[in-house]
Amino acid sequence: MQVTLKIQRYNPEVDSQPRWETYRIEADPKDRVLDLLHKVKWEIDGTLAFRRSCAHGICGSDAMLINGKNRLACKVLVRDLGEEITVAPIRGLPVKKDLIVDMEPFFDAYKAVKPYLINDDPPPERERLQSPEERARFDDTTKCILCACCTTSCPVFWVNGTYIGPAAIVQAHRFIFDSRDQGAAERFKVLGASTGAWRCRTAYNCTEACPKEIRVTQAIQEVKRAMVYHQF
Ligand code: SF4
Ligand code: FES
Repeated sequence: MQVTLKIQRYNPEVDSQPRWETYRIEADPKDRVLDLLHKVKWEIDGTLAFRRSCAHGICGSDAMLINGKNRLACKVLVRDLGEEITVAPIRGLPVKKDLIVDMEPFFDAYKAVKPYLINDDPPPERERLQSPEERARFDDTTKCILCACCTTSCPVFWVNGTYIGPAAIVQAHRFIFDSRDQGAAERFKVLGASTGAWRCRTAYNCTEACPKEIRVTQAIQEVKRAMVYHQF
């Protein structure tokens, strides 16, 4: 089948603003958008810039706005999109070139919630034990691949780039509800600030955008509730 692929192009070194470039290309319905981008880059225009690594929905590096929705280019099939496909960078982060955005603000928010186990007790001889039920409590949020689809689909993040965003709260959730972790109070200081979880307006865009089907909005609600009931 022939598809019309519209890609937002922008090279800040020469362009004053982004522009759309259209490519007519032959595609198999089972091709992924990532295959089409490779075709453009390898056969038509080698200057096209985009990120990808694993090509299998694991690394989270190829999040893009595809036909108006945030998705991973390696996980979307042409047959599910039709003959007209538009691809633009995820929104709310500065564009470095074409489909590549500056992820530093996103990772700054991630780092701010201390996304690692905090436990000052002396380590036991073997591992820190946990029951299957305790492990299940935070299972959903362990699936996050830090693709930024959720944060960059959030209207609050678009309007106020200082909002810490859904992905950082998901990462905080993963540790706050881990029975072995003792860092909740430290994380609540960040999440309770004016740029933290209370900015969430429960728009659900994040949950719809998540390629790992994490219940992002629910995780944010659980973190808010934990903050309310937390005794300092
Ligand atoms: S919660 Fe989902 S959408 Fe958000 S960064 Fe993690 S994997 Fe991506
Ligand atoms: S390239 Fe790794 S998730 Fe798509």
